[in-house]
Amino acid sequence: MTTAPQARSSTAVLPVGLRLLGRRVVVVGGGPTAHRETAGLLAVGADVAVVSPALTPALDALAISGGVSWIRRTFTEGDLDGAWYAVAATGDAGVDAKVAAEADSRHIFCTRTESHELSSAVVQATAGRDRHCEEQGAAEGLTGCVVLVGGGPGDPGLITVRGQQALSQADVVVVDHLAPWPLLGVLRPGAEVVDASKLPRGRSMAQEEINALLVSRARAGKYVVRLKGGDPFVFGRGMEELLACAAAEIPVEVVPGVTSAVGVPAVAGIPVTHRGLTHEFVVISGHLPPGHPQSLVDWSSIGRLRGTVVVLMGVENAAAIAATLIDHGRPTATPVAVVTDGTTASQRTVRTTLEHLGTTIRDEHIRPPAVWVVGEVVQLAAETVARTSAGAPRADEGRSGASTRRGAGGDRDVEGRSVTVIVPQV
Ligand SMILES: C[S@@+](CC[C@H](N)C(=O)[O-])C[C@H]1O[C@@H](n2cnc3c(N)ncnc32)[C@H](O)[C@@H]1O
Repeated sequence: MTTAPQARSSTAVLPVGLRLLGRRVVVVGGGPTAHRETAGLLAVGADVAVVSPALTPALDALAISGGVSWIRRTFTEGDLDGAWYAVAATGDAGVDAKVAAEADSRHIFCTRTESHELSSAVVQATAGRDRHCEEQGAAEGLTGCVVLVGGGPGDPGLITVRGQQALSQADVVVVDHLAPWPLLGVLRPGAEVVDASKLPRGRSMAQEEINALLVSRARAGKYVVRLKGGDPFVFGRGMEELLACAAAEIPVEVVPGVTSAVGVPAVAGIPVTHRGLTHEFVVISGHLPPGHPQSLVDWSSIGRLRGTVVVLMGVENAAAIAATLIDHGRPTATPVAVVTDGTTASQRTVRTTLEHLGTTIRDEHIRPPAVWVVGEVVQLAAETVARTSAGAPRADEGRSGASTRRGAGGDRDVEGRSVTVIVPQV
């Protein structure tokens, strides 16, 4: 007679994967742990509802954009209605126990982030430990270290292999709101996520606080990843963080990323240089208007350029910047493209001219994050897009404010015609 093998303890688990695409998952809690869990769930397409009286800035931004639905109060019986899976991540053992008890009574699997033993569903570790920055620290008599990782402009697939490797090994991840949040889905269970978002005109963590946090976590022996949008050294304050760590004798590794200055125009079909057309490009911060006493930009030189001008953080000051470039010699009809939410599902491209930039931004209700590009390369892209629109002449060709959106089947303009971009033959 044979008998079935018996599990010896409640820690025995069956490793299975959950297909959560379009399925309701309830995350209870609005802090950094809930943020980390939500990122992982969104990365696999779950329909996430977050129950919490308050949210971290990054979760708040997700709720505002409709990425998650927010039930703005403490957990109440009935909140798990319709859920396939629940995550109790409040940091309060009593509330987490209440969530788990309701999940049990409804036969819904539940992860309690603070207790594997008390969870009916346990998230399995996927990463190995190959932490060469940590080894460097150990060689120098330290235990922790900081890795500054450029996450790329938004699409999680645009992080480098080294960046993803570092993330998967992190004890602590200090993350910006423009960093590709689905990447938090690859973290080790138990990794701490710190939301260091600086929302434009919204909540933000002071740079000094971020620097101190990196240093203190590394001093506590942690492998700390500072995950940023784009490249850490392009308007990313990466060097300030590196210097703070260096002053505290914390080893730092820098992992460059795809900057939005180049990557975002690229996915909209706009090359920042093109043989025979443009032999230069310049990247400018538009967060201060021309004439501002703290501005370090030589606007008269920029206005005289023939090449490509790429402006970051320049939505609010677009009209003033465009007028200054025109004043200093750039022709009014110079083509401009504004690309918002670049490399994400909501990417949108609006084409206009330097003269009409301010009104286009106002009339098209353009909001950050956006990169705008000035120069003949924009026209090149528009012509390429027009040529690939199944031969049909575009109604918006040459018109200011012409707009395209990116979708599952390539770019799509506002009237719904496919405008897949192909590389031009030169
Ligand atoms: C503080 S800067 C950081 C730039 C970042 N370090 C980089 O290399 O891309 C933030 C600005 O980058 C631009 N940006 C970042 N991600 C973007 C995206 N996905 N789409 C459009 N613009 C983006 C916007 O101009 C935004 O205001």
